[in-house]
Amino acid sequence: MRTKVAIIGAGPAGLLLGQLLHRYGIDNIILERHTGDYVLGRIRAGLLEEGTVALLDEAGAGQRAHHEGLVHDGIELAFGGERHRIDIKAQTGKTMMIYGQTEVTLDLMNARQAAGLTTVYEAADVTPLDFDAGNPRVTYVKDGKTHEIACDFIAGCDGFHGVSRASVKPSAIETFERVYPFGWLGILSETPPVSHELIYNNHARGFALCTMRSTHRSRYYLQCPLDDRVEQWPDDRFWDELKRRLDQKAVDSLITGPSIEKSIAPLRSFVAEPMRFGRMFLAGDAAHIVPPTGAKGLNLAASDAHYLAVALREYYDEKSSAGIDAYSRTALARVWKAVRFSWWMTTMLHKFPDTDGIGARIQIAELDYVVSSKAASTSLAENYVGLPF
Ligand code: APR
Ligand code: PHB
Repeated sequence: MRTKVAIIGAGPAGLLLGQLLHRYGIDNIILERHTGDYVLGRIRAGLLEEGTVALLDEAGAGQRAHHEGLVHDGIELAFGGERHRIDIKAQTGKTMMIYGQTEVTLDLMNARQAAGLTTVYEAADVTPLDFDAGNPRVTYVKDGKTHEIACDFIAGCDGFHGVSRASVKPSAIETFERVYPFGWLGILSETPPVSHELIYNNHARGFALCTMRSTHRSRYYLQCPLDDRVEQWPDDRFWDELKRRLDQKAVDSLITGPSIEKSIAPLRSFVAEPMRFGRMFLAGDAAHIVPPTGAKGLNLAASDAHYLAVALREYYDEKSSAGIDAYSRTALARVWKAVRFSWWMTTMLHKFPDTDGIGARIQIAELDYVVSSKAASTSLAENYVGLPF
């Protein structure tokens, strides 16, 4: 088999890249380790920047998002028992959209299928080869047989634990990492959200986030110890703890119900540099991870896919390597700004185990500054809504 771009991983990064390349007339094959249903079963974040929605439109997969997504103009920050609204639309002229990653993935999968493009699900032992030389290939095992795809380029869109980054020789890559000393316990419930916008809560017992998937489905998160297990968090305990961390108005209007999903995720900042190794590029979680506090993970996967697709179009249409040569630098400049923003939101909103009285008071002073200074709230707003690409 031969294709122009062999894409490893059918998450949002790989699927969006595949769809954009297809729109630019560049053929591609996606190799995914799991089944499509497995990929769709993972519950992840759900806040899209306007730029991400525009990319879904460009990919021919934005229709349902416009119909079902919830457009939000602002967010609330809660601390000291009170809520403060940041009017993001007034500050930036832009909005965000609530639309789950699962739905984004499904829409991209359907668009890919409708275009008749090849995705090999349950591809085992996927191995990128010879990307440092001129003849990159990817081998994989399917139904007990080994297959080989010869290609011009490999796109490693296979997430944090993928094979692409792991295939690079250690001397060619530098990684930067911070692991936070807590996790997020998330639940999904078939209940109306407590408020029509997101509420980020700083509380002495730990951070809490009220978010949603739709007008009848809520998503709540609690900061929890890293070694907690979901079995330690029956629904009643979750709702009790959430109520302790919310302001009174939220507690009074909170509607609880059985959880339909419950999981614990660690929080990490991670960046690999560079994002190009000869004829292999990394995109999305394969290259970087941000803690979810800024809602940037999915949006960074989308901006990487955009930069890479445009660079490859330039390569094929204009016979110019300028775009692919600049890919790593261009993508990393945006990545690092999102890493900074996500770290800052995380630091301002969470309870750190070693935070003494001074640390907690500095957090409250910072939050107070953010909600009362136009300059500070505009800075939060323009990062939250997404920096331009
Ligand atoms: N071979 C083939 N596929 C693989 C391999 C492998 N060795 N390793 C991983 N994969 C697949 C995974 O099964 C997954 O479907 O690559 C895909 C990577 O998808 P994601 O982890 O969703 O990563 P990405 O597409 O970069 O999307 C980033 O996901 O984790 C969230 O917050 C993050 O929202 C962001 C988004
Ligand atoms: C979510 O809806 O899951 C979500 C929203 C905003 C965040 C993190 C998660 O910052």
